[in-house]
Amino acid sequence: MAAVPPTGRVLDLACGNAPLWPALGDRPYIGMDVSTAELAEARRAGAHPLVRATASALPLAPGSVDVVVCSMSLMVLTPLAEVLAEIGRVLVPGGVLVATVPDRRPLRWADLAVAGGLLAALGTGLGYPGDRALRRLPAMLAGAGLRLDGDEHRRYGYRLGSRDDADRLASSLYLPGLPPSRRRRARGYLRALSLPHAEAPMPIRRIIAHRPG
Ligand SMILES: C[S@@+](CC[C@H](N)C(=O)[O-])C[C@H]1O[C@@H](n2cnc3c(N)ncnc32)[C@H](O)[C@@H]1O
Repeated sequence: MAAVPPTGRVLDLACGNAPLWPALGDRPYIGMDVSTAELAEARRAGAHPLVRATASALPLAPGSVDVVVCSMSLMVLTPLAEVLAEIGRVLVPGGVLVATVPDRRPLRWADLAVAGGLLAALGTGLGYPGDRALRRLPAMLAGAGLRLDGDEHRRYGYRLGSRDDADRLASSLYLPGLPPSRRRRARGYLRALSLPHAEAPMPIRRIIAHRPG
């Protein structure tokens, strides 16, 4: 959020249940997502206006927003080239894109055991449809008329101090199609790890780009 310019019209792309809304809601805001279930939750949380749309065909006029935020979603928005072209189209010249995606690095040595145990419990890797495309992101941004300003990989820690923390983390893992039994197994694993000072590693990539004026 620190990288998001403080003023201007903002599009929260693939907003999900709109966790960013409370921090963005004082300015012209529009949340978009393809999922009616996510939008219903966002509405319950008070976010508005909300529009059901797919990221590769945004129902917005060219140059109609100053900022696009895309939190933990770019890795599932396909085809990425079309999505980036749409972002470039709806941004004003000088407008900014701030996006985050889950990452595999950086990790500490001690994180490897926690991450390995979680993947074993899930019975799957944390792979997403856009992973390959995201490796070529600078070139893809350029192809969409966007200029890369920042591309950083940081490790955050998710506090696992209680069973509630473990349950929140297990339910927030975005893995469409994951059988409920595997999510329960992951929850059990995280609960077993939870201790007052325990944390789960959260490597996150943050991308900042702008549409040249
Ligand atoms: C991991 S969630 C992130 C949600 C939210 N931005 C957050 O930070 O919690 C990914 C979101 O992308 C949405 N999504 C997936 N494919 C989409 C598409 N083609 N167009 C728009 N939204 C899409 C999903 O419905 C889901 O809400």
